[in-house]
Amino acid sequence: MRSKFIAGNWKMNKTVADAVALATALKSGFSAKPGVAAAVCPPFTALDAVGKVLKGSAIALGAQNMHASKDGAFTGEVAASMLLELGCSYVILGHSERRTLFGETDKSVNEKTQAALAAGLTPIVCVGETLEQRKSEQTSRVITEQVFGSLAELGGSLDKIVIAYEPVWAIGTGLTASPAQAQEVHALIRKLLVRLGGEAAAQKVLIQYGGSMKPDNARELLSQPDIDGGLIGGAALKADSFLAIINAA
Ligand code: 13P
Repeated sequence: MRSKFIAGNWKMNKTVADAVALATALKSGFSAKPGVAAAVCPPFTALDAVGKVLKGSAIALGAQNMHASKDGAFTGEVAASMLLELGCSYVILGHSERRTLFGETDKSVNEKTQAALAAGLTPIVCVGETLEQRKSEQTSRVITEQVFGSLAELGGSLDKIVIAYEPVWAIGTGLTASPAQAQEVHALIRKLLVRLGGEAAAQKVLIQYGGSMKPDNARELLSQPDIDGGLIGGAALKADSFLAIINAA
């Protein structure tokens, strides 16, 4: 049986002081339960401070992006080694906001995914269709392209990644995919993973759902057979709602 994995994507929110306050509240309210893992992904500027607060707790630390190169002349970018040094074990890659606002492509997401794995970070690779694509029945095609493009040539490391299915139309909109809509795409992703790496690897990969997951819809979404967790935006910015989602898991 796969465990559940709830991660908070804080996006471009929280100063260091605010981040420390939230992490402190999470640490004191979190009780580790078997089969449920949790992580938070603060902005780069708060990783160090949040990592220090969470030290000794079972809540893991993740970043929201990284560069594929080890080091060099890449002004404004951050390398995997820098994230590891601050205690990160996860890195979100290819979030739809990075794809649509910052020009990331399946190719760049694939390069970053390979680099993260090589460095020993667990990538949380995001895929998802827009509302237009869903309305024009392009969801399967888009998801297939993103999965095959972003996860090409991972070799034996396919089972070391996490995938987040985030329908773009559900992110920050209050619109959530119904449990059946989400499960349908999660099952498709699992089938694609079988084609990429075989049944055993595909069964190990955790596939999170993201897009307006809240305490009141988490339980139903998380009870679907291929929904192994959540990547939470808005509801991860407050300790009580994030902890409530972890409890639902
Ligand atoms: P919301 O939970 O705010 O919809 O954001 C989801 C998301 O983008 C997580 O990465």
